[in-house]
Parts: sequence; C-alpha cells; structure tokens
Amino acid sequence: MPITACIFDAYGTLFDVGAAARVAASEPGAEAWSTRWPELAADWRRKQLEYTWIRAGADAHLDFWQVTQDGLDWALERHGLTEPDLRERLLALYMELAAYPEVPEMLAGLQKAGKRCAILSNGTPDMLAAAIRSAGLDDLLEAALSVEDVGVFKPDARVYDLVEAKLGVAPDAVLFVSSNGWDACSAAAYGFTTVWVNREGAPLDRLHEKPAHVLPDLTGLPDLVARIA
Ligand code: LAC
Repeated sequence: MPITACIFDAYGTLFDVGAAARVAASEPGAEAWSTRWPELAADWRRKQLEYTWIRAGADAHLDFWQVTQDGLDWALERHGLTEPDLRERLLALYMELAAYPEVPEMLAGLQKAGKRCAILSNGTPDMLAAAIRSAGLDDLLEAALSVEDVGVFKPDARVYDLVEAKLGVAPDAVLFVSSNGWDACSAAAYGFTTVWVNREGAPLDRLHEKPAHVLPDLTGLPDLVARIA
C-alpha cells in the first residue's frame, strides 16, 4: 500500500532535546557548569527515557511531564546543581523546545506532496501543544497523538495502535520517523515502514527489527517519500 501519512516522534526527532540545557548554560549565572551542559542534557534524557521503559514494564504509568521532572532531578543531583531557579528555568525551556532547523521546510514539502503529517509521542498533550506552538508548526501538523490516551509509554503496541485508531491510517500506509533507535526498531516490528534519523552517527540498535531507512537528518525525507510512496 502506498504511504499516505508520515508520523513523527517528537523529542529528539522534531524538537531538539538538548536545547534546554544548551540555552540555560549560555545565560548569566551558569558559568560554574556551562561547559558541562552536554553531560547534563545527556543524563537528563537518559534517565527520562529509562523511567518511561521501567514504568511501562512495571505497569506504573506517570505522565511524561512528571517523568521529565524526575529525570531532571536525578541529573541535577548527579551534577551537584541544586538551585531551584535552575530547575524551573530548565523545565520552562523544555516546554518550549526549538525544532531542528530543517523541520518547517521538510513538513511543508510533505504537505505539498499530499502526505498527512502528525506526531506520535510520549509527551503529554500540553507539552506537545506548547512545543508545536513555540516552533511555529501548527499549520504543518494535522494532529499530535499522545500516549496519554492509552496510559502507557512507547514501545507498547497500544501506542502505535493510536495512528490507525485516531487517524484511520492502516499500518502499511504509515511512514514512521524517529531519531530514537529503539523507537524506530519497535515501530518497524509493529508493522510501520520506518525511518531512523541518526543525527549522531550512532551504531544501529541490536533489537528485534531494523528500520527500513536511515537518514542523517530530516532534510532528505520528502525525497525519500517521493521515491518509496
Ligand atoms: C517521544 C520521545 C520518545 O517523543 O522522544 O515519544
């Protein structure tokens, strides 16, 4: 079946998850830790994701905003950064993450080619709405599907089921795009045609399925879709 819809992961795929720590590190008062922002950002992201997997496996769901705060608290403690103002600033920046620079043109290209474009994310509806608004993507995305509708995180199949349930698009007509290797592999195993956006040149995850396509960023996605759809 031809691809009719492009479904995007949000954090790390459309939105730059490193931006919150990077921006905070450039602000006055951050001198003591400003050179360590990449480690802080990586620890925050790693714990946030670990907590989603553990909570899904343990049937102990909390929403992604709480999990994001829990991951941040772990990372701040690890780096000896205990000022409440810094915590609040990082969370405020996370609510309004920048999109990667190529995203608006890429989405406009897909839209022009007649493809439906939407997000499928662990994020809460509030988080996704805030990020989409601040990145100016409202007119380029048809919907932001959130795991909160099923109360479990990716890669539970009930999350991927939301695409057909909410948008009426069968799995074999979906191109699923994620920069998270584990999400791309899991979505491929679910039955989506999948693109892994490998921004960091990371090794392929050793999991139960492989993504069909790999791109270094999102720039080439409209061309890829034109070739395969
Ligand atoms: C998301 C996380 C996995 O947006 O990045 O679902």
